[in-house]
Amino acid sequence: MISMPEAKTSYLRNAWYAAAWSEEVSRTPLARTFLAEPVVLFRDTNGSPIALADRCPHRFAPLSKGKIVGDAIECPYHGLRFGSDGNCVHNYHGPIPKAASAHRYALMERYGVAWIWMGDADKAHEDRLPDFGTFSNDDRFAVARGYLPVSGNYQLAVDNLLDLTHAQFLHPALGNANSSEHSVFKMNSEGSTVWAKYFFEGEPVTPFKRMFWESASDTCNRWADIRWEAPSNLYLEVATSECGGSREEAVVLVPSSHFLTPETSKTSHYFWMNARNVRIDDEALTEMFRQGTDNAFRNEDEPMIALVQERMGDNDFASLKPVFLSTDRAAGRARQILTRLIEAERSTSQSETERAA
Ligand code: FES
Ligand SMILES: [Fe+2]
Repeated sequence: MISMPEAKTSYLRNAWYAAAWSEEVSRTPLARTFLAEPVVLFRDTNGSPIALADRCPHRFAPLSKGKIVGDAIECPYHGLRFGSDGNCVHNYHGPIPKAASAHRYALMERYGVAWIWMGDADKAHEDRLPDFGTFSNDDRFAVARGYLPVSGNYQLAVDNLLDLTHAQFLHPALGNANSSEHSVFKMNSEGSTVWAKYFFEGEPVTPFKRMFWESASDTCNRWADIRWEAPSNLYLEVATSECGGSREEAVVLVPSSHFLTPETSKTSHYFWMNARNVRIDDEALTEMFRQGTDNAFRNEDEPMIALVQERMGDNDFASLKPVFLSTDRAAGRARQILTRLIEAERSTSQSETERAA
């Protein structure tokens, strides 16, 4: 495995991270960096997705600049070919050197996403990916999705999503100008899952919500529950009902998935999907919803995260002693759990190395 030069950062390696939309992985090499390691993604002749280290073991050229030949990728520099298991399968210049192989990462596809496992391939069980399938194969929902490169550490993006109180200040177009006056916040966690649950009682129906809200009422009850799964995959469910109505009586459901993958210590990949259960055949509305979501993330959240990253510089988050608000309980717990998991993984791999020595 190879790394890009960057600030000293630890990641959870034995976990599934969103690497690409399925259709991005094709017979043309796709170069992408995860956890500071350059990776090349492509498909073999059976259509199976492959992920190899994007650095030729000969003179370290990027394999992604080469070409796919059958099930192999050919290095653009001196032509060594590496098969889908990462082993060298062809050398124009003589016998195949035994040591010539490019690390192969485990990869699987689910929900239209190719997921990469950056740790030990023998620990890469598919059931280690939590369920994000609520709407992706459900014809009650219309789905939109997008991708955004983020100029900030992935945990800053997770903080942003777990603390939805920022919407009142950062997303004026959503129109929830006084939402904190109507809201109740609760956090709970279990294992490596954290829930941040917001309830907005009797809040005004904003022009944005009018797009989905077909009732004549001017106020509504809204629930926004966001679930974090270590290391950085989130599921948000927004439900709206008439005032006095319960969550089960919600008429408008807007679920969404948010997959954050570290690129480097200061940049991240953000894959998102959102859905709605109203006017699902209205494609113009789907496009408007996609653009509106993209606009909020790209022009409001991301620039703020980038500025936060800039202000933090190379400092560790905790070393800056961030002020803790009651609404930070979910983000704080998620950070705590992730730190614990990373430490546990590090000590396990240390003892495995010692046992093997
Ligand atoms: S650098 Fe790849 S074959 Fe020489
Ligand atoms: Fe936001």
